[in-house]
Amino acid sequence: MNYIKSKGWELSENFVTDERFFDKRRKFLKLGAALAISSAYVMDLAAKESAPSPNLEYLKDPNLQHLTLNSYDQITSYNNFYEFSTNKEAVRPLAKNFKTEPWKVTIDGLVEKPFEVDMHELMKKFSLEERIYRFRCVEGWAMVVPWVGFELSKLIKYARPLLSAKYIRFETLYDPKQFPDQNRGRFAALDYPYVEGLRMDEAMNPLAFMVTGLYGHTLPPQNGAPIRLAVPWKYGFKSIKSIVKITFTDTQPLNTWQQAASNEYGFYANVNPHVDHPRWSQARERVLGKFFKQDTLMFNGYEKEVAYMYKGMDLRKWF
Ligand code: MTE
Repeated sequence: MNYIKSKGWELSENFVTDERFFDKRRKFLKLGAALAISSAYVMDLAAKESAPSPNLEYLKDPNLQHLTLNSYDQITSYNNFYEFSTNKEAVRPLAKNFKTEPWKVTIDGLVEKPFEVDMHELMKKFSLEERIYRFRCVEGWAMVVPWVGFELSKLIKYARPLLSAKYIRFETLYDPKQFPDQNRGRFAALDYPYVEGLRMDEAMNPLAFMVTGLYGHTLPPQNGAPIRLAVPWKYGFKSIKSIVKITFTDTQPLNTWQQAASNEYGFYANVNPHVDHPRWSQARERVLGKFFKQDTLMFNGYEKEVAYMYKGMDLRKWF
């Protein structure tokens, strides 16, 4: 069936026809009413396209840097989540029915006592806050995201690691029934489960953040529900999604992308405009929704907060 979808800001045909029969004042009043209805309709449409209403209690980020946020729609419709698909636009529909209940996180390795914690229990342990962070993918696109969650350092203290723990290793769920690419065996895009890691001092940095929400609302599956990492000074692949296991270790974890192509992706993956990817420049980036590129910032703009951790390290070697 063919039909022309009416746009919210267009006056209805009925109204325009009726208009001729009324005096100016009534015309004015009616126009006002119609505009009110249509603008409410527009707002409703915008709300549907943008964030669902907040359902989390959290401390708001005052956004002192006046970063311009990307829309909920932009953040949730262009995703890298290879377990679902290598096609960014396909991730959202494929992730629609992803089951995040029940969800348990195992904490093991070099800790006083390994344990497993239910996601609901975990959420009760920490008060939530918002963090408006720049996000930079190694592929050259970027965005600004209002994450909701808690500092990774709080989770680490709760886990009680031993002094011998030098690194922290994260693992994503392995469930071929839910993740189509995990079901492709040797034709899968990556080796699963997806693994990431941080040096302990990086993990304890106040910027390292465990994310459980976005725009004040529970995290949608395509962005890594129910819990993911956000390390804003590093390329996006470090920000592992849908975490089920956190292991404290004394050996540097082999992260998935380093395992896949060690000449292109390293363990550190700090955003650095001076160290190019072997196949493209990292000097500039394109923010989602913007036409012109902008300069990439050293450590993605968080140099003051993180540069001290890499003093004396050759960042070309430790890329
Ligand atoms: N985590 C898992 N488990 N699987 C992935 O494919 N992709 C990474 C990272 N975390 C990925 C992942 C990459 S390459 C990026 S850029 C970010 O997730 C994308 O996060 P976003 O979809 O929320 O923007």
